[in-house]
Amino acid sequence: MPDTILVTGGAGFIGSNLVRYILAERDEHVINLDGLTYAGNLESLADVQGHPRYEFLHADICKPEQYTEAIGRADSVLHLAAESHVDRSIHDPSAFLNTNVIGTQMLLDSWRRKENPGRFVYVSTDEVYGDLPLEPKSLKFTESTPLTPNSPYAVSKTGGDMLARAYHHTYGINTCITRCSNNFGPYQFPEKVIPLFVNNLIEGKQVPLYGDGSNVRDWLHVLDHAEAICRVLDAGKPGEAYNIGGNNERSNLELTRMLIDLCGREESSIKPVEDRLGHDRRYAIDASKIKNELGWEPTRSAWPGALEATVQWYKDNRAWCDHVRSGEYRRFHAQNYGTAT
Ligand SMILES: NC(=O)c1ccc[n+]([C@@H]2O[C@H](COP(=O)([O-])OP(=O)(O)OC[C@H]3O[C@@H](n4cnc5c(N)ncnc54)[C@H](O)[C@@H]3O)[C@@H](O)[C@H]2O)c1
Repeated sequence: MPDTILVTGGAGFIGSNLVRYILAERDEHVINLDGLTYAGNLESLADVQGHPRYEFLHADICKPEQYTEAIGRADSVLHLAAESHVDRSIHDPSAFLNTNVIGTQMLLDSWRRKENPGRFVYVSTDEVYGDLPLEPKSLKFTESTPLTPNSPYAVSKTGGDMLARAYHHTYGINTCITRCSNNFGPYQFPEKVIPLFVNNLIEGKQVPLYGDGSNVRDWLHVLDHAEAICRVLDAGKPGEAYNIGGNNERSNLELTRMLIDLCGREESSIKPVEDRLGHDRRYAIDASKIKNELGWEPTRSAWPGALEATVQWYKDNRAWCDHVRSGEYRRFHAQNYGTAT
């Protein structure tokens, strides 16, 4: 019997890519536990529906009674379910604290109460570290950088991150934490910058660029992230955190200009908009620990090639994008899984 991995948030952007990666590259059985919020989209996994090692469980991490049975069968957990959009957290933080902190605590409690709980990987974010100045470039987040989150989203992820650490320290649970930079790739909800801008550009619309566009992010391909999570699952040291990054720092303006170029549009497509409240200036990851200790390095993230392939995916998958934007993907859930979301 293959081991069973419980993946939470498997209907989201990273989760759906991770589920597909595990089914293609590994031999475990996967239970995809997802509450199907607006960000959960099972059309992203339509190609693995019916796969003999895949099952879907419609459950909310804040309602443990909905997943007790799955916890009992799982050998390990990859916990990705979260409210993930910074702008939404600025508008209303409550769902973020509920799912990302309380939900994580409930999931951890369910895990620690089972017999011989195995590895539990908490998928955190580089945003727990706060931000960095634009210069010097050599300054990067390491795993010992103090956690000083700036947005309600980042605070809620820090709460989950610290709980995962504390459950190792207090209860001896076999937790690991991953702190990753910005992901790009297929199946990302079109409220996030890359799919939003590509969709607008394809349709000849302008793209809303925050402030002067000088904010810097480190971009990693989602399948590199999936591989790194699995490396931590297999070989991470209990109680440890691992940074994951792409060595691929770009300003938002540089990213926007590349997308404009790849979509054959003009600089006039840029529409400057008022900056995000408390907008973090720069994130940069020192990922030498995961490289030195677990032998992981990104292999799919180099630009312009990887960005070009991502833009091409959004050009080639107009139906997927249109179904998300029209809400059609919810009908897919009802038809295929009998869920009313
Ligand atoms: N996207 C990035 O660049 C990035 C970078 C680093 C870390 N992360 C982390 O990776 C994880 C996945 O991010 P993403 O971009 O795929 O997010 P996403 O918003 O695309 O997906 C989140 C998924 O979680 C599910 N979910 C939300 N609340 C739930 C609940 N209460 N119970 C069960 N399921 C619930 C949603 O339905 C959705 O399928 C998050 O924890 C995020 O903090 C993301």
